[in-house]
Amino acid sequence: MTTPDKGLAVVTGASQGLGAAIAHELARAGFAVLLVARSLPALDHVRASVGALNGDRTFVLELDLLAPDAFDRIRSAITSTGFPLTCLVNNAGHGLYGLFHELPLTDQLRMMRLNMELPITLTHGLLPDLKTAPRSYILNISSMTAYGSIATLATYGGSKAFLLRWSRALGVELRGTGVTVTCVCPGSIITGFTARAGMLVMDDLARKFGSEPLPVARTAVNALLKGRAEVVPGALNRITAFLQQCLPAGPVERVASGIYLKRLPVRK
Ligand SMILES: NC(=O)c1ccc[n+]([C@@H]2O[C@H](COP(=O)([O-])OP(=O)(O)OC[C@H]3O[C@@H](n4cnc5c(N)ncnc54)[C@H](OP(=O)(O)O)[C@@H]3O)[C@@H](O)[C@H]2O)c1
Repeated sequence: MTTPDKGLAVVTGASQGLGAAIAHELARAGFAVLLVARSLPALDHVRASVGALNGDRTFVLELDLLAPDAFDRIRSAITSTGFPLTCLVNNAGHGLYGLFHELPLTDQLRMMRLNMELPITLTHGLLPDLKTAPRSYILNISSMTAYGSIATLATYGGSKAFLLRWSRALGVELRGTGVTVTCVCPGSIITGFTARAGMLVMDDLARKFGSEPLPVARTAVNALLKGRAEVVPGALNRITAFLQQCLPAGPVERVASGIYLKRLPVRK
């Protein structure tokens, strides 16, 4: 199915999970798509189905986003597609489950680079291109952990709170430029996230209360196309996020943290 040409969307972390689902929704909406991640076989698999939705205007870049030349390689991959850049999706990210002082510092710093420094670097470097298009979009994937502090997810939650605040402020700065900034704060999504975060002990809850990636991606892309600043996918999640912001932080933190602390494996 060929759809109207909306220019090129770059999606980081598009080899699986939410990033792959967002790539499908962007292709359906008429974007050419550049999929970026480390696993080439997984990227090729996603390219086949995304390409079927946008007349094969789908490209892949096998890249470790933490490599020193990551920005330059993304920039040259964009150029080689021949499409004008109109959308940047900062989706790649991961969590780390555990007590702050027990999680290795190097792992936490790497996660902060992926979750915070990378969106800043890509956005800063690609904004001039985005501004040359009459209409363009930035989509940042935060998390509901941005709305409250949860023990065992201290650094991850902090990184997502940062992304939300930065995203909203950037959106205000860019008013009137034709570039809108949307931040999505999903609750639990059934993806490879829990395994990568070392929180398989929470997997049963994630599967029971979590959503499949596709409805989250649909909400995200609808919000992006409308230029909304912030969206929480799912009615129950929206109510929870609202209550988190209205109720006193202390009791909310204790209840939420208790759920995660209870499952934390005891270190010998
Ligand atoms: N799942 C949830 O419950 C949940 C909830 C709220 C927010 N989120 C957020 O949603 C986003 C997507 O997560 P997900 O649930 O889809 O997780 P996922 O299934 O683990 O997917 C993560 C993606 O990021 C890519 N990636 C990770 N490190 C990378 C690196 N160094 N270089 C290049 N690509 C890298 C992975 O691809 P490769 O391994 O092939 O590189 C993969 O495509 C994250 O920002 C996460 O924080 C997730």
